[in-house]
Amino acid sequence: MNINPLWYKNAIFYQIYPRSFYDSNGDGYGDFQGIIQKLDYVRNLGTDCIWLMPTYKSPLKDDGYDISDFYGVFEPFGTLDDLKQLFNEIHQRGMRVITDLVLNHCSDQHPWFQSARKDPNSKYRNYFVWSDTDTKYQGTRIIFVDSQESNWTWDEEAGAYYWHRFYPSQPDLNYDNPEVHEEMKNVMRYWLNLGIDGFRADAVPYLFEREGTINENLPETHAYLKEIRKMMDLEFPGTILLCEANQWPRDVREYFGDGDEFQLGFHFPLMPRIFMSIGKQDASSLVQIMQETPEIPENCQWSTFLRNHDELTLEMVSEEDRQWMWAFYAPQKEMRLNLGIRRRLYPLLDNDRKKIGLAFSLIFTLPGSPVLYYGDEIGMGDNINLFDRNGVRTPMQWDDTKNGGFSTADRTYLPAITDEKYGYQNVNVMQQEDDPDSNLNWLRRLIRIRKASEALGEGELEWITTGSEVKVLAYIRRSENDLVYVIHNMSDYPMHFQLDFEPGIYTDLIQPDFTIAGNRDTELDLNPRIFYWLQRKKSIG
Ligand code: NOJ
Repeated sequence: MNINPLWYKNAIFYQIYPRSFYDSNGDGYGDFQGIIQKLDYVRNLGTDCIWLMPTYKSPLKDDGYDISDFYGVFEPFGTLDDLKQLFNEIHQRGMRVITDLVLNHCSDQHPWFQSARKDPNSKYRNYFVWSDTDTKYQGTRIIFVDSQESNWTWDEEAGAYYWHRFYPSQPDLNYDNPEVHEEMKNVMRYWLNLGIDGFRADAVPYLFEREGTINENLPETHAYLKEIRKMMDLEFPGTILLCEANQWPRDVREYFGDGDEFQLGFHFPLMPRIFMSIGKQDASSLVQIMQETPEIPENCQWSTFLRNHDELTLEMVSEEDRQWMWAFYAPQKEMRLNLGIRRRLYPLLDNDRKKIGLAFSLIFTLPGSPVLYYGDEIGMGDNINLFDRNGVRTPMQWDDTKNGGFSTADRTYLPAITDEKYGYQNVNVMQQEDDPDSNLNWLRRLIRIRKASEALGEGELEWITTGSEVKVLAYIRRSENDLVYVIHNMSDYPMHFQLDFEPGIYTDLIQPDFTIAGNRDTELDLNPRIFYWLQRKKSIG
């Protein structure tokens, strides 16, 4: 294992959705033993750290993000011992593991909420946010806009409204109650004691409510988050927190604090701009958001990503850009969900290796630790006929047998993809293992190359391209011992480009037979949608 305490600054994360990864006992649900059986595959991709999505007890009203017991495991996944074994086996293979930490809410089936709604004198009443009216906190936006009209729901039994930022089945916890602070710290301690390496912290902007605000990113919320980080540093040194705050860069910046809050934060605004840049063949929106992205403390890092288990969120783009993205990438109404697009990477980018190459190149060469979503490495498709976000959570396609080799059951939790283009008959791990040019082996290679370059992993970023229309996107990554010029032709026609190189001999890390002598005004011919990672091999002069 990489023993550098800042390992997370230059790491590849791989996101596993346990329900759909591998079913070892044929009951139709993925499970812990199933994941264990596939860990060598995960490691061989180049994974440094697994993000294991929720495994808590849950009635699955929000697919496990509605937790009915923070100390329990979802039974179809296996036992706590199986889960501990999974953590051990991950570590034995030199990888780390972080799990989901849901601080903001629990399930309405949680005994705390059950007791709170029944009895006004219960100590748990004050674990939730109640009101006699549904008119408080008017300035708060609704997140699940397709299905929710209010953040308040009337509870007959309690005779009061309760507050929830997500589904009504997910009452928000009351962070004005210090007991909740301790309660959730104990939950964290419990899991950290089992040896995990940290948490992906869900929905952190929404912990506190204050009248007259938008109830996001409040100072009280940051104060609590700093408190939990302090606890972790003190009691579980070396463990990390990854922040899910779907906010503008200047607001996400606050979650890094002075290096004393989160170590990692998803770069939400960058993600849609990658797709916009590829679709518009113009990376100006990407350049702009990166230039608006503040510096972060030395011990922190961005998490870059292309897709995840949610809709491709368009919350961090303008209304005009959102309409453009929907029209371009979600032409059918069923492809849209809330303020986003419920599709997977390969179908979004037309199954086109060139476009997908640009997308991966961007998350591998811009500053950050990339987070990959299971199935995207083989080019899995989606199923827009499934409810909510389930269409991007279908069974992992291991081979071309029943259910894509995911399960022997007749009925699986979600059906495997079977369409001609993306179905498991044609898109699966087994087939791709043997094909040196498969999506899987191509991505493995990109990851290996990225990992071998010090500059791509740790280097400073310097912009070359600016301007109002960016057909050729170029920047430098520079570290102590390494210098890489990263160049993308975003357009689907050949481009002629002139670049001032620091004098030297440069070799493309992707196609090492391409070598040039770089100097002032060096001429480059770029094929359509091509990218170069030009590493200086020798300086001249
Ligand atoms: C963000 C998670 O990614 C999403 O899946 C979930 O629905 C909400 N937070 C609520 O927990």
